[in-house]
Amino acid sequence: MLEVKTFHMDSFIPMPYEEAIAPRLGLAHQKLQNGTGPGGEFTGWVRLPEDYDREEYARIKAAADKIRKNSAALVVVGIGGSYLGARGVIDLLCSPSYNLKKKDGPNIYFAGNGLDADALGETLDLLDGVDFSVNIISKSGTTTEPAVAFRFLRKLLEARYGKDGAQQRIFATTDRSRGALKSLADKEGWETFVVPDDVGGRYSVLTAVGLLPIAAAGVDIDGLLRGAAEMMERCAVPGYDCPAWRYAAARYQLYRDGKTVEILGCFDPAFRMMAEWWKQLYGESEGKEGKGLFPASVEFTADLHSMGQYIQQGRRLMFETVVRFGPSVRQLSVERDEEDGDGLNFLAGKSLDFIRDKAAEGTLLAHTEGGVPNLIIEAGPRNAETVGGLIYFFEYACGLSGYLLDVNPFDQPGVEDYKKNMFALLGKPGFEDRGAELRAKLNL
Ligand code: PA5
Repeated sequence: MLEVKTFHMDSFIPMPYEEAIAPRLGLAHQKLQNGTGPGGEFTGWVRLPEDYDREEYARIKAAADKIRKNSAALVVVGIGGSYLGARGVIDLLCSPSYNLKKKDGPNIYFAGNGLDADALGETLDLLDGVDFSVNIISKSGTTTEPAVAFRFLRKLLEARYGKDGAQQRIFATTDRSRGALKSLADKEGWETFVVPDDVGGRYSVLTAVGLLPIAAAGVDIDGLLRGAAEMMERCAVPGYDCPAWRYAAARYQLYRDGKTVEILGCFDPAFRMMAEWWKQLYGESEGKEGKGLFPASVEFTADLHSMGQYIQQGRRLMFETVVRFGPSVRQLSVERDEEDGDGLNFLAGKSLDFIRDKAAEGTLLAHTEGGVPNLIIEAGPRNAETVGGLIYFFEYACGLSGYLLDVNPFDQPGVEDYKKNMFALLGKPGFEDRGAELRAKLNL
């Protein structure tokens, strides 16, 4: 069962803090449960693990089966919340080397999460001679990056399979009724899945947004939802038995005590993209009105040989949150070598898990003694249930954290600025005046 351990941060906090923060957490909890806080119309994810459309869920599974049978590759086109959750879960539960492994299911490629021609071109090359399907995901249905990539992929599908054949291989996940993608999907007769109105992008991994690609990769999505539902039950009861309360309170107190950066770390390299998902979740939810912890991430032990130096001795800005999973699926032990030329016989017979755990303990002591508080999240064994629970836990703690900061955790007004500039510079109709103004500023 997921547990948050605060022992290695408590000594950094001069006074007990949980009692003092509890009333504010109680109010934040009510706002999430009742949808009465700022952005309350986007709290549909709070009950999602139980309250979801069963008919659509069956269609998600059927579509995943169809893709697994008729496609050697699935291209998932989306950005931000329409991309990171699926990528994180597939890496964590199937492996970051999933595409290189022998398996029953398709390779999964991600496109439309940037504007680099080489990246998109490489993905198109990988589809050469390969049967493939496309899942285009965009809640608004108008986001430039995925829309541009999809135009290329759709053309490739239609060239290879004809319009009718392509129709069987395009799955669109978007708004129930609005947006260019929804209109296009209806016109072309593509199968569609819904991003519910009351669930924002970065809280949508447990909707069709994440579930279709994750199921296509062969992950047990029933298990994912079961784990999320169990965590939902725990979080429905106010108080510090809820691990999200403990995490939200600890990080809020550290923030009030002057920490400005939270580094999420894990000793499991398969967690790297989940950390990217977490960064988006917390960065977009908290970082507004001049407030919020800056979310960063590290992969241990690799980053102990790079960022470890800064963490140990650089400016004292940060605390670490370390996610720990149970034993590795594969157990490897170091063999004795008679010559011991590398001097490693002191590790003979020891498992890699044991060595990793000693590295983790050594790191914890070094970093806390170097002035970096550590929070530990014991996530349990790495499987669909625990990952579902971890996702819900982080989402709930994020909602609580936003309300503790008195910001709306469900909007992202700041991301509009770059879009307006980009459209103006690209000459999109309606942005002409701004375009002229920006070109003058850029001295172009
Ligand atoms: O969390 C969010 O709302 C954003 O990160 C969106 O997911 C992202 O901008 C993509 O938007 P859309 O799904 O509308 O293409």
